[in-house]
Amino acid sequence: METIIEKLTKIVGDAFVKAGFDESLGRVTLSNRPDLCEFQCNGAMMGAKTYHKSPIDIANSVAEVLKENKIFASVEAVPPGFINIIINQDFVVDSINEIIEHSENLIKKVEGKPKVVIDYGGPNVAKPLHVGHLRSAIIGEAVKRLAKVLGYDTIGDIHLGDWGLQIGLIITEFAVQNPDSPYMKEDYLGPYEPLNIELSYLNEIYPLASKKSKEDEEYRARAKRATFDLQNGRPGYIAFWKEVMRVSVSDLKKNYENLGVNFELWYGESDSQKYIPDMIEKFVKDGFAHEDQGALVIDVAKEDDKAPMPPVIVKKTDGSDIYATTDLATILQRVKDYDPEMILYFVDNRQGLHFEQVFRAARKTGIVSDDTLLEFDGFGTMNGKDGKPYKTRDGGVMRLSDLIDTVVSGALEKMKESKTGSDLSKDEQDEIAKMIGIAALKFGDLINHRAKDYIFDLDKFLSFEGKTGPYILYTMVRLKAILRKAKENGYVSGKINKIYSDVEKDIMLKILNTSDVFWQSFNDRAPSIVAENAYSIASLANKFYYETKILAEENEEKRNSLLHFCELMLKVLQIHMDILSIKVPEVM
Ligand code: ARG
Repeated sequence: METIIEKLTKIVGDAFVKAGFDESLGRVTLSNRPDLCEFQCNGAMMGAKTYHKSPIDIANSVAEVLKENKIFASVEAVPPGFINIIINQDFVVDSINEIIEHSENLIKKVEGKPKVVIDYGGPNVAKPLHVGHLRSAIIGEAVKRLAKVLGYDTIGDIHLGDWGLQIGLIITEFAVQNPDSPYMKEDYLGPYEPLNIELSYLNEIYPLASKKSKEDEEYRARAKRATFDLQNGRPGYIAFWKEVMRVSVSDLKKNYENLGVNFELWYGESDSQKYIPDMIEKFVKDGFAHEDQGALVIDVAKEDDKAPMPPVIVKKTDGSDIYATTDLATILQRVKDYDPEMILYFVDNRQGLHFEQVFRAARKTGIVSDDTLLEFDGFGTMNGKDGKPYKTRDGGVMRLSDLIDTVVSGALEKMKESKTGSDLSKDEQDEIAKMIGIAALKFGDLINHRAKDYIFDLDKFLSFEGKTGPYILYTMVRLKAILRKAKENGYVSGKINKIYSDVEKDIMLKILNTSDVFWQSFNDRAPSIVAENAYSIASLANKFYYETKILAEENEEKRNSLLHFCELMLKVLQIHMDILSIKVPEVM
């Protein structure tokens, strides 16, 4: 299958050859001056030096050749040496019909279904899910879905933070409050009665323990000790930890489901534990790790480093494993289980150094070969209007579930005011408000480039105008309504037989360019490019809707063609929303 850009590149490349130049100069791109033309080729400028000719002479001779081809409506050589191209309507219609018949041709797929592991979400067990985990989850999910559409075999792993000091802190506080619990007895090996702890309890005890450990050195030492004992398999702690996991994970599943985020693997840091002892032993035996002030470290600095690159600590002075250790062992596990072409990490920008250290250590020690790409895809912070990380009104860290409630109730308010909304039953209103609220939140995030910070602005996100989730949903709901009415009237959607307006052609060209946009988005690991494309298609679709008589069109052939075009727009927008994992209601 060839995309439209590839088809045009081939034709223009041939024309360069015919005119006596190299084929490689014929690369065609979308025009960056859509007011002048639809596509352009800048090869004449690149060839000038090689051929000792002025770019405009080259462009002119190539344009002469291209003018003979009837797929072009106009070909112009423009100083200093651009070739500006407008393609014929028939060629556009044929290309569109081709992808309607072979929908698999809309998107070019990678060959051989390579495996990609995507590490995203990364919530910490027993700590409430906060907005910082929001971005990881929704960006990672979108990139995963995008990779899948492009033909990759994708594996999303949540990589729970379930093995660190936070568990030791919870154990310590639990022991303070329940000194006689069998779970806390060193010499007791079970069986254990189920512990009926609630999430709200965990949400209380973690902050308390964390506060105490900052104020009280002895308490902190106990928490560290508990972490170490847990990691070394103390039965009561392991049993307690399993209970904590059960409660935490079921809550996490609910939250992520609300956000349209699904993980193939619910592994955690703890799952890497079984690889750690052998891994460390090998690091030492192979001479990669050495002792440094009681800790075990791997040097990863390189001579040409511009910034300091501290060694990676793989075992702390107290013998416990840390973040880097579990990350290294997890790479080992992923290579062993999947041998992926790439492992992508969607984690807060501030963890960049950690990942650079880990990746270097993984390469140095041979845990991963050069065939596997390890990539840190950092993201920026969601800020409040004051430009600082988004907080609750009382200054605390905003919980994700509270944030979701905020957007959903905002959407519900708006719904009740609207005409369609107020006609719906209470249940329908709730259901649709949930879709709109989540769409507002997710699109409001995804429209920003991953690496950048952005401002959470509820009114803006919920607006039906501009680059927002509700705007896209509204456009799609409108298309759905037209198609529903057409069906009620007994209209069938016929073949798209011609282009009736400029806007229609603009949309068709966008649709034909979807594959390139998706690839660009994936290569940049930037779902914002997909979101941006959805917006530009949606805004053209609205223009089309205003300018075009569709259901009232009397010419049957034309009406049926327009209806089919509506179906196509809806379908393409739906593909975009599926990638962003945003649900679309039937009415709103
Ligand atoms: N749990 C970590 C945190 O909250 C994020 C985990 C990211 N992934 C990883 N493989 N380290 O900061």
